[in-house]
Amino acid sequence: MIKGALKLGSGSAFCFSMRKILCLFLFIFLVSCSSDKDLKIGVAVYDFEDSFITEVRNSIVECSSDDIPVTVLDAAGRQQTQNEQIERFIDEGYSAIIVNSVDRTASGVLIEKCRQNDVPLVFFNREPVKDDMAKWDKVYYVGARAEDSGIMAGEIMADYWYRYPEADKNHDGILQFVVIRGETGHQDTELRTEYFIDTLFSEGIALDKLHEDTGSWTREGGYSVMSSFLSHSGDRIEAVFANNDDMAIGAIEALQEAGYFSGDSYMPVIGIDGTPVGKAVLENGRLLGTVFNDARSQGEAAYNIAKELAEGRIPTSDTVGYNIVDQRYVWIPYTPLPGNLLK
Ligand code: GAL
Ligand code: CA
Repeated sequence: MIKGALKLGSGSAFCFSMRKILCLFLFIFLVSCSSDKDLKIGVAVYDFEDSFITEVRNSIVECSSDDIPVTVLDAAGRQQTQNEQIERFIDEGYSAIIVNSVDRTASGVLIEKCRQNDVPLVFFNREPVKDDMAKWDKVYYVGARAEDSGIMAGEIMADYWYRYPEADKNHDGILQFVVIRGETGHQDTELRTEYFIDTLFSEGIALDKLHEDTGSWTREGGYSVMSSFLSHSGDRIEAVFANNDDMAIGAIEALQEAGYFSGDSYMPVIGIDGTPVGKAVLENGRLLGTVFNDARSQGEAAYNIAKELAEGRIPTSDTVGYNIVDQRYVWIPYTPLPGNLLK
């Protein structure tokens, strides 16, 4: 038949219908290719200046495949800018969006907007409140349990206190300490501080918190807050807990200027994150300890979930490579990193 049809030439009805079939196949092929090619993931980050978030962002970019590329945008600390960026992702047909929100209380509005347009969302690092997470089932969260980092930081401090009697500089049996807090309202700031104190308390250490102020996650913030604590309380301070490494490093700079870390003059400073620069300060002995916050895994989990959602599948622990709990949460564990004095 086919032979005959070919012999009959292009004018025949049979050949015409063959062409139609071929065209249909070609059309289906092109449609399926182009829809795969068009998949793309938008990433909205609260601030490109943040050291830890930069590590997570780099991990997302490194994990992304050419099949489903990412576009990463910086909100530079402004929620309004981030809202516009997310609207742009929606308008430009992005298949899923990864968000590190500027203000986590704004998550509800973002979820609603994405739900209306059926664009799935993966939040990381700044956890939306439970009520917002409940608004839609195509919303996921990747983060680390802040309370665990507070407990680990507290255990590092307690270990130092019990191992080194000179930690109690004024010999009154009470630990006089200061806290350099992260951004106000961030779950990591509130929970790290609360659990650090609870842990020391349950380890049987009497506490006197001399000062507490926010260093906004930055080195400069840590430096200026520590300088002001030193000008108020100077030698009375026996320990410093900073809610992240950058602020701890800023505090160490202020302490060095005040004469600490030379001769016998030591100050135990604890941070959180274990960033490359934090680890360097840990190794040179300026940082008593830190807690590793696994940026690489957080980025990889966020991308893998977004990829599954972009391809129209429900992410599972198997396909994502990380344990999904409570249907839509991935928790990446912290690891304590005690410094040389505690080895
Ligand atoms: C925390 C991290 C901080 C800062 C903050 C930003 O988890 O420890 O260094 O990056 O997130 O939201
Ligand atoms: Ca004391």
